[in-house]
Amino acid sequence: MIARLKAPGRDRLKTVETEPYPWEHEGVRIVGERLTVAGRDAEALAREHGTPLYLVDVTSVVDQACALRDALGRAGLRPRVRLALKAQRAPDVLAALRGIAPAGSPEAVGVDVCSPGELLHALDNGFVADEISYTGTNLSERDLDVIVPTGVHVNVDLITQLERYGRRRPGSAVGLRLNPRAGVMRGHDESLYSGRGPTKFGIYEEDLGRAVTVARRHGLVVDTAHVHLANAILDEELPAYDAALARVARMTERLLEAGCPLVEVNVGGGLGTPLLPGERALDLDAWAGILARHFGGFGLDVGVEPGEFLANLSAVLLAEVVTVEERLGATFVGLDVGWNVMNDPFIYKRPVDVVVASRARAPRHRVVTLAGNINEGDDLFGRDLPFADVREGEIVAFASTGGYTAGMWTDHCMRPRARVLYFRERI
Ligand SMILES: Cc1ncc(COP(=O)(O)O)c(C=O)c1O
Repeated sequence: MIARLKAPGRDRLKTVETEPYPWEHEGVRIVGERLTVAGRDAEALAREHGTPLYLVDVTSVVDQACALRDALGRAGLRPRVRLALKAQRAPDVLAALRGIAPAGSPEAVGVDVCSPGELLHALDNGFVADEISYTGTNLSERDLDVIVPTGVHVNVDLITQLERYGRRRPGSAVGLRLNPRAGVMRGHDESLYSGRGPTKFGIYEEDLGRAVTVARRHGLVVDTAHVHLANAILDEELPAYDAALARVARMTERLLEAGCPLVEVNVGGGLGTPLLPGERALDLDAWAGILARHFGGFGLDVGVEPGEFLANLSAVLLAEVVTVEERLGATFVGLDVGWNVMNDPFIYKRPVDVVVASRARAPRHRVVTLAGNINEGDDLFGRDLPFADVREGEIVAFASTGGYTAGMWTDHCMRPRARVLYFRERI
């Protein structure tokens, strides 16, 4: 996941008062005026357990994973769906994903990990080595001390890393993370992962021959072509995604021509979920159709490892309004949560959508600056945010905060992390 999106602006004053919000679904929805998660009243839970508090509808993660897998199947592909663990690593969620189908079956949902810590966590939570892929960067010898004995499949992203990996695990099967020098992020036809200029990830087409030579020298069998080139895409970005994948298909073909016995092409993550007014859920059949056109002919498994798409919609973050104050003509709304608990808007520039838990369809007549409780001037979740006429003591909810946010906590200012309640069942 990477930086993206323009800041939310006053155009959002045109708010949804009766229509469902784009982030609503069966597990996170407004009943009457009140926000509910997995059928429970959000404000009541905040009063009972305190704030800041995440509420997670676990079923939604399972539903999203199955929807992706089924769309790939409908397009005639053999899917391998894995959750990008860095987006959501809670044992309750992992247990639910693990429970989708028995280990090793084609319906099973696995995980993609990016550090030794994540790898051990995945194993501890019931995933077997075959269901785990490791796509990490800048692997040290200490990293490999942990990774190699587990036997998990690794996607290697640099030629120097391929040398290092080959020395440690000669003769093994390996994936090559490719960089097609094309990609797309929500609102941009460029990607920090595989942009036109040099980025930190992936082997370039210009260097494919060299990579294959290095792999051969170590007896490595290149069995996977891997890319991660998108971020938070919705339907508007599909044409750019399509164009970028054409380059990936060409690189895949070159690997096959070079004699690499590929079994999988893995297209990474980067699928978005709707948040703001006017946004719609990604058309999964259109997305899967693009993959089928580019990769269907190869007869390979098609891997996908989303984080945001699986996890975003599952959760809300609740906070208490502790300040409402006019300051030089600007309305500041201060919360009992700061960037230590939810730093994703700061790192990824992801916009926020915030509703009052007890009257979630209240019209957003105010324009506010939404401030956190960390002693830093830029601990602001947004400026010029269309907002309900909120009062101190009310509970507000950040919508669609199930991906990344809870796992990216820091203890800056010694502010504690938020509690998280996971609901396996909807009532
Ligand atoms: C290699 C790889 N795969 C998958 C993902 C998941 O991305 P997203 O959450 O955008 O789907 C990431 C995120 O950065 C990644 O680096």
